[in-house]
Amino acid sequence: MPVITTIEDLRRLYERRVPRMFYDYAESGSWTEQTFHDNSADFKDIRLRQRVAVDMDGRSTATQMLGQDVAMPVALAPVGLTGMQHADGEMKAAKAAEEFGVPFTLSTMSINSIEDVAEYTTTPFWFQLYTMKDQDYINRLIQRAKDAKCSALVITLDLQVLGQRHKDLKNGLSAPPKLTPKTIANLMTKWSWGIEMLGAKRREFGNIVGHAKGVTDASSLGAWTAEQFDPSLDWKKVEKLMEQWGGKVILKGILDAEDAKMAAKLGADAIVVSNHGGRQLDGALSSIRMLPEIMDAVGGDLEVHLDSGIRSGQDILKALALGASGTYIGRAFVYGLGAMGQKGVTTALEVIQKELDTTMALCGERHVNDLGRHNLLVPEDFGGRWQS
Ligand code: GLV
Repeated sequence: MPVITTIEDLRRLYERRVPRMFYDYAESGSWTEQTFHDNSADFKDIRLRQRVAVDMDGRSTATQMLGQDVAMPVALAPVGLTGMQHADGEMKAAKAAEEFGVPFTLSTMSINSIEDVAEYTTTPFWFQLYTMKDQDYINRLIQRAKDAKCSALVITLDLQVLGQRHKDLKNGLSAPPKLTPKTIANLMTKWSWGIEMLGAKRREFGNIVGHAKGVTDASSLGAWTAEQFDPSLDWKKVEKLMEQWGGKVILKGILDAEDAKMAAKLGADAIVVSNHGGRQLDGALSSIRMLPEIMDAVGGDLEVHLDSGIRSGQDILKALALGASGTYIGRAFVYGLGAMGQKGVTTALEVIQKELDTTMALCGERHVNDLGRHNLLVPEDFGGRWQS
């Protein structure tokens, strides 16, 4: 087993181990993938201020997200089809998050169901909701999340229609994979994945199959979003969903100061500054580039979290120093899961925490809550070369 010191090490192992269609699903952005690439590249534009001769004893990355104690301000993002990256993937990732002390968010489009994850863990997790045209189904889904004692509802606002990802269409992405000559040829090289998958609790969309009616192809994310997702979701409907839930709400997919102000006005507990990992509106600016403007608009009104592009603890430090009070990793934990199952997710979290802690120390800080603009060197035009 190679020595793993970076998230990139996990990605390489993951690429070798998991069938191509699921690797491609995770590793894609929409259309030209410009935003997907910018999300990570823009973190590199921000540099760090080195400070010395500061007592580094007693450092801590522990803080709170949404009033909940966390070992570091990093949640696992909702990622569709996680249970196709590794057998029982959502259960395993949730367990790793629980043991590490960070929140886990279960996607509506997960393989393991809400109930599977609730049974397998003891700490309440967060549930991510996609709204569908079938209101009865949504009512039941929300009730299932309440029954499972989920401690926050994460409502995704940037996926009423699916941004086109060319590779998924070309690969015929589905869960479970359809057996074509191309997929069979690829699966023959992924034995350990296949054997473990034979013993998996589920191989279909666990929150959907057996719960929703009238779907022509329940194995295809593309068909699902086109047929079932609610294109009429607007702020009024968001407000209704928030009332229906009645607990903590995180609005995910905010990339504009005006939308952030709307979220604050509605009384959301947090927003996630996000472009869905570059998977939706290609050509949008990166999350980290939009963060300062959004902090200026709503920073004092609600918690501002960020995802999209994070591959290291240094990226996390930069987001926190720009004002975010929480971050999410999606691909970074999926690489670990695909590479080594639950242990791989733990490794991803350990790699990231170590990078965050060491970088904090070399910046002369002892606690994540003390990070701020004073730790960064930000290019003068970071937020504003593009004018509306
Ligand atoms: C679904 O959330 C996706 O981005 O594929």
